[in-house]
Amino acid sequence: MRQLSARSARLRGIGALTAAVLCGAGLGAPAAVAAARDGAPAATSPGAGLVDTPPMGFNNWNSTHCRPEFNEDMVKGMADLFVAKGLKDAGYQYINLDDCWAESQRDANGKLVPDPVRFPHGIKAVADYVHSKGLKLGIYTSAGTHTCSEVGFPGALGHEYSDAQQFADWGVDYLKYDNCNNQGVDAQKRYTTMRDALKATGRPIVYSICEWGSNKPWLWAKGVGDLWRTTGDISDSWGSMLSIMKQNLPLAPYAGPGHWNDPDMLEVGNGGMTDTEYRTHFSMWSVMAAPLLIGTDLRQADDATYQILENKDVIAVDQDKLGEQGHVVSSEGGRWVVVKEMADGSRAVALFNESDRAQRIATTATAAGLATGHAYRVRDLWQHRDYNSAGTLAATVPAHGTVLLRVWKDDHSVVYPPAAELGVTGADFVQPGKTEEVTTTLTDLGRTTARRVSVDLDVPDGWQAEATSPATARTLKSGKALTTTWSVTAPKGTGPGSYGVNAVATYWPSHGDAVTTRVPLRARVAVAPPAGDSFASDLTALSSANGWGPVEKDHSNGEAAAGDGKALTIAGTTYAKGLGTNAASSLEYYTGKQCSALKATVGVDDEVGDRGSVTFEVLADGRKVASTGLLKGTDGAQQLTADITGAQSVQLVVTDGGDGPDYDHADWAQPTFSC
Ligand code: GLA
Repeated sequence: MRQLSARSARLRGIGALTAAVLCGAGLGAPAAVAAARDGAPAATSPGAGLVDTPPMGFNNWNSTHCRPEFNEDMVKGMADLFVAKGLKDAGYQYINLDDCWAESQRDANGKLVPDPVRFPHGIKAVADYVHSKGLKLGIYTSAGTHTCSEVGFPGALGHEYSDAQQFADWGVDYLKYDNCNNQGVDAQKRYTTMRDALKATGRPIVYSICEWGSNKPWLWAKGVGDLWRTTGDISDSWGSMLSIMKQNLPLAPYAGPGHWNDPDMLEVGNGGMTDTEYRTHFSMWSVMAAPLLIGTDLRQADDATYQILENKDVIAVDQDKLGEQGHVVSSEGGRWVVVKEMADGSRAVALFNESDRAQRIATTATAAGLATGHAYRVRDLWQHRDYNSAGTLAATVPAHGTVLLRVWKDDHSVVYPPAAELGVTGADFVQPGKTEEVTTTLTDLGRTTARRVSVDLDVPDGWQAEATSPATARTLKSGKALTTTWSVTAPKGTGPGSYGVNAVATYWPSHGDAVTTRVPLRARVAVAPPAGDSFASDLTALSSANGWGPVEKDHSNGEAAAGDGKALTIAGTTYAKGLGTNAASSLEYYTGKQCSALKATVGVDDEVGDRGSVTFEVLADGRKVASTGLLKGTDGAQQLTADITGAQSVQLVVTDGGDGPDYDHADWAQPTFSC
């Protein structure tokens, strides 16, 4: 769902916002358990008992949209791969068809007709095939006159009972019910009618409400649907995934068994994010007890994609019987600690680094909600290894990465190796031919002693890294650290760019195999701006992230395509130089401790009218040094001046103001570095 496309403007009608509490009828057993736990009334929804844990499966939309490759072969292929590749064993169950499966007209009897080219044998045949594999089939329609695609296939508004019966007759097990072309009919009314229609069929059908969070379904849809979308559509980019995660996190109190928040389907494997980012996506969706609906064409997926999607330690977090959605324990400077209580009393703890540089993220077992104890068992859910900890949970987390832990209070955990934290400072930037000092610190976080300890720094070929203090220790006792300084030199002539540097520590517990901890870092070689004043749009950024297409130089953001911006315009004044961004956006520039100020005129671009709400922020070495506070489309331009003296790098950040990124076209006009 996006603000400016003709498609959204034309097709979407959004019902009035109403926030009444619905009382449904009849208590199914699992729903009753959930109700007892929450102390709130529950109603039997069509899929009651099927979604005591969040649904897992596949949906074609994120990989195919309405392209012809969405067809019977694809659907059968996914079912085959679910079995062959172990996804079924890992818990994935539903194979869901999204929009565009139907003919554009109903038949003479008002019945839906499957597209004869995509589904030549009809939907029942596909359902039979999927069922023969021990899996379930899902389908899609809209709570409007037509679905959301350009063509607009028949929607179920006014046809609820007939369409639901048809789905049941075909053997459908799951319905995603969208919101397009709703004619302004009240959302609760539309979604409740379909609930009743599904119920009338007598077939258990999981009911997925997809009204994009427009009418705050978390306030009324428990007892109506089994899950409800909380946001607009996800796309395959870091900015989109992050913004959706941030909108969904605060809704934790509304989720539980049989009534899940749905931050939309997975993009893992689609190519728009790195594997580190996809691991974050999968980790955070699991900590948020989100549905895990694979959105990539598994016939083309690589090993890394399968490894992410089949991580049983992480899936167990998502599928935990307690059904808690993780809550934010702390979030500062891009360092997030999100904790999910588990049915066995343990806690899943996500250390998530939103920022563009590696950062230390730390918390404690007690802050995560565990009782004070002598020792804790800490399992790293991506390494699949157990450690003992005295209580500190800490790691250097790569940019955009997540360290996902599961922690138990457990005095017997001393049988596991001690947890150790490897920290690195000074490796962010390197100037060719100049020796930089880097420090590594390995700390024993466990109750037991680490033995035969060694730390190393792997640098690119041709670079030098020399330890100037001891890099080994015979033993490292609980709470003690080995600090090593290193001289790192990149050869003269090393071109600008980002280079992989790994800090690696190895140690031995009293019993068992050696433990190796690796912190992957990016050392950047860059050139500082020349002396005097320079416009940011004339410099090369170290990195550039944007919420809607690329950042445009000397133009507004425009639409998602590159180069489609207009003149930068804030409150009627146009500017020749600057950066056209869309929240959430972050541009980083190398300033090499040689600049003193960044000045800019900032505001929401006139191209979105009075809409949009953002904050502009300037970060010097990750520290906020200037901010506008909330700035709306109705506000004029503001002057922003930041003292960046001594900073190695400066980030220009735009946040979405807390209400999602739509219409957040944010201009940095005349952004000037003084160096
Ligand atoms: C809406 C939904 C998407 C997808 C499309 C299909 O945008 O939110 O998830 O189903 O419609 O047209």
